[in-house]
Amino acid sequence: MCGIIGYIGRREAAPLLLNGLKRLEYRGYDSAGMAVLNGSMKMLKKKGSVSNLEELLNVSGTVMLGATVGIAHTRWATHGDPSDRNAHPHMNVSDDIALIHNGIIENYSTLKQELMAEGYEFESDTDSEVLVHLIDRIWKNDLALGLEGSVRHALRHVDGAYGICVVSSREPDKIVVARKGSPLVIGLGDGEFFIASDAAPIVEHTNKVVYLSDGEMAVVTRDNYTVKTIENVEQQKRVTELDFSLEKIEKGGFEHFMLKEIFEQPEVMRDVMRGRVRVEEGLVQLGGIHDYLDRLKQAKRIVICACGTSWHAGLIGEYLIEEFARIPVEVDYASEFRYRNPIVSADDVVIVISQSGETADTLAALRLAKEKGAMVMGICNVVGSTIPRETLCGMYTHAGPEVGVASTKAFTAQVIVLFMLAMALSKGRTISHEEIRLNLRELADVPDKVARILEQNDAIKEIAVKLKDARNALYLGRGYNFPVALEGALKLKEISYIHAEGYPAAEMKHGPIALIDEDMPVIVIATRDNTYAKILSNIEEVRSRKGRVIAIASEGDREIERLTKDVIYIPQASAAVLPLLTVIPLQLLSYHVATLRGCNVDRPRNLAKSVTVE
Ligand code: G6P
Repeated sequence: MCGIIGYIGRREAAPLLLNGLKRLEYRGYDSAGMAVLNGSMKMLKKKGSVSNLEELLNVSGTVMLGATVGIAHTRWATHGDPSDRNAHPHMNVSDDIALIHNGIIENYSTLKQELMAEGYEFESDTDSEVLVHLIDRIWKNDLALGLEGSVRHALRHVDGAYGICVVSSREPDKIVVARKGSPLVIGLGDGEFFIASDAAPIVEHTNKVVYLSDGEMAVVTRDNYTVKTIENVEQQKRVTELDFSLEKIEKGGFEHFMLKEIFEQPEVMRDVMRGRVRVEEGLVQLGGIHDYLDRLKQAKRIVICACGTSWHAGLIGEYLIEEFARIPVEVDYASEFRYRNPIVSADDVVIVISQSGETADTLAALRLAKEKGAMVMGICNVVGSTIPRETLCGMYTHAGPEVGVASTKAFTAQVIVLFMLAMALSKGRTISHEEIRLNLRELADVPDKVARILEQNDAIKEIAVKLKDARNALYLGRGYNFPVALEGALKLKEISYIHAEGYPAAEMKHGPIALIDEDMPVIVIATRDNTYAKILSNIEEVRSRKGRVIAIASEGDREIERLTKDVIYIPQASAAVLPLLTVIPLQLLSYHVATLRGCNVDRPRNLAKSVTVE
């Protein structure tokens, strides 16, 4: 996701900041920029890679000479397309305050309206820009507040997540930073300080760092730093010594991007719901489709088109929308849809799902659906990619950049978006307000439950040892867990090259049962829901043919231990949110099997992250 680097000291800031941005490139981004102070504020920003910004610096960087304080940013778009003007830093009208921001300001549109009513003009479509104008307004109204006080007051008006760095030519010898939900770390050098969103750009300068906690602010000068809470209470911070390699830091301390992305899921899930779900009020607010919701509710049919993992998310979407919103849903492989002359009309809504927003088959399906007059909606992760540009409306998943080729966090983010959509489509039509509230409660509880599953990583690795020499594997699930069985099998084959198939458990008797013997591990998702008893019978059938069973079961289920020793428990939850939980152990299982087999999990052979050709 977005990256932050700030510097205050005695050296030239611009080259240090540029170097820091290069260290942050691994996080994924779409534009970059920096602001420095040398008497007055100087800012440069550019869409595209850090090298674009570097070129700009080579041409016009002399204006930045002599600056020993500055802030810089790599942006990953959430609000507003990737473009020069949406890149950070953002400045106030008098160009004397500059701000960079990671996170999402949930109430930005209310704040923006207020500020515009007072005459503030906005130059970007970002949520972040409201912050700089807000600080400006507060400071103008009470000059005694200074930069620090104005930032503190401004943050009191803000809902959402942020990691921010602010500089001002009115107080040129300091950087004010604050964090809530988006990490910030201060690197302690000799007569100089670094501020960054993670240690990657800091580690080459110093190994002494202070991690800010949520709700804390810091004022950093050349000789000192002070940390206080946003309520202005001074904090004593522990200095941590880094003993990581740069490579490890880039992966958040994990061995591979895939593992990092699996572990990011609780946080990502909260980000997906941020500003969209209000549990107690039973409210789902989906800005990107708000104006089209009535048309969506009136659809005669919804057709979901996608490829790969996104297609599996689509299948879960089918179950959710049909169960709650009672609108008929069909799920098609985009590659099939585009060539089979499908029946699609203006009464249909076609939803395309794509992490990258660039998959060739999905794009072709979207264009065909449009040609046939259907309303087309997108669910994508990459802001400003082709698919969201060509759909009438849609929702971003806000999962942040996914580097591992095998999709993990983007999948769970897609499922959450589909869950929210199902609730929005049901509201006032098919289920009661109370049912919506209960469903949203279940959804909001998912991130904590996922965190609990992740704690079992070591136990899952032990089970992976037993699976690593298999040549085939069968995954079984029913109901909401059937698409998870497909996704579990796909994850295993993608990264470990073990042949794996997913099946609805009851279909086992129509074919796969013929394959079962002592060499066929069977991974069964056997959570406590309305098909539990039937799944237990499937497990018995596998056992009686000497098949080895690995079960994913609900916490508290002792019965399952009678049937297999290899059980991974997940917390109790309602059936509709189960896929968000049951998929986690399957992701980890595939990851460990693949690494135990020595496979390159982040770049599996023959696969591409984004398939832009047929
Ligand atoms: C490739 C990737 C998969 C992904 C699929 C669809 O096969 O390796 O991880 O699920 O494309 O990609 P999309 O970006 O459209 O979701």
